[in-house]
Amino acid sequence: MKNILITGGAGFIGSNFVIHMLDKYPEYNIIVYDKLTYAGNLDNLLSVSDNPRYHFVKGDICDPLTVAETITRYNIDTIVNFAAETHVDRSIMQPDAFIQTGVYGTYVLLEAARQFGLERYHQISTDEVYGHIPAGYSSVETDKLDPRSPYAASKASGDLLVNAYFITYGLPVTITRGSNNIGPFQYPEKVVPLFATNALDGLPLPLYGDGRQMREYQYVGDHCEAIDLVLHTGKLGEAYNIGTGVEMENVTMVEILLETLGRSHDLIRHVADRPGHDRRYSLNIDKIRALGWEPRHTAEEAIRQTAVWYRDNEWWWRKIKSGEFRQYYETQYGERLRATES
Ligand code: NAD
Ligand code: DAU
Repeated sequence: MKNILITGGAGFIGSNFVIHMLDKYPEYNIIVYDKLTYAGNLDNLLSVSDNPRYHFVKGDICDPLTVAETITRYNIDTIVNFAAETHVDRSIMQPDAFIQTGVYGTYVLLEAARQFGLERYHQISTDEVYGHIPAGYSSVETDKLDPRSPYAASKASGDLLVNAYFITYGLPVTITRGSNNIGPFQYPEKVVPLFATNALDGLPLPLYGDGRQMREYQYVGDHCEAIDLVLHTGKLGEAYNIGTGVEMENVTMVEILLETLGRSHDLIRHVADRPGHDRRYSLNIDKIRALGWEPRHTAEEAIRQTAVWYRDNEWWWRKIKSGEFRQYYETQYGERLRATES
């Protein structure tokens, strides 16, 4: 492994992973391949932009020619695919791009990996592929996939394609399925950065339904370390869950966030729920633990550190929230919030 193509590397987790890999492996070259959708942001990569081992290519994973040219030009031996449309609420409004990138785009990358005989293809997946998980159970990697939103279905389809390329062509693949990541550079449509930035501005926090849905909030740096470990020591053809093994209700997450930022509970608004909202995700993480990995942060530490990062990095998020985001926010929350006023 020497020349690694990181697709979606200008997004939240991808950029954290790029920074981690450049720092940890002085012998690796990292080529970020990213379409720069609304969620892609080169500000995330400013700290490595002068590094001679970092290169950026603007491209779509659905475009086989540019993918092939990039593999040839940089002598790529490994692909780590983070590229995806990632917001569940947007997938409910407009599923098209989710299917394009998550299904067709994954196929294009797998086919390129096969034709160029790459050393490894690694797929970044999600705990959402398992669907809603009843109390008392935690998903293991061999569980059946039961996605319930267009986003989750696009990710599960990607996983199935990856598996098919392993079985049919013997492509050296691995998959990681992460729980909810939080930390620096997360687009402020996701709940923790949305609520942190709203709270900092004294704006309402639109909590869906009763707020008692459960998520496993994990620090993005921990997730990146686990992906790195699977890339280097994971078994080919296998999937690995990555989380904390401990879930938290959204109402608790909001309390921690508000307390960290010194803002009032009065900002919380219970708004109409997300259609088909998965009530609980929960991962069994024994398999990744057996490779020697442990999360370094509890969910509470991750929430506090993330809140502080948004408090201290207005330069990063203010320009995002003043752009395309405003239209999105009005469509997604306008009516819901006005309904709480009457
Ligand atoms: P993000 O939305 O912040 O970033 C996605 C990146 O992919 C952006 O830079 C975007 O420009 C790029 N992209 C989108 N479509 C593309 C295309 N067709 N071609 C090239 N680039 C394209 O997402 P994220 O939260 O960093 O998630 C990264 C990956 O991790 C995704 O595959 C997601 O499903 C998975 N994941 C995310 C979480 C989470 O909590 N955020 C948890 C588990 C798994
Ligand atoms: O579980 C992993 C997944 O986590 C990733 O695969 C996805 O890419 C990522 O977006 C995330 O999906 P979620 O739907 O869990 O994340 P989101 O931040 O959108 O929502 C987290 C919880 O907060 C969920 O129960 C819905 C709730 N929520 C969300 C928003 C945006 C609210 O109550 N209000 C909100 O405004």
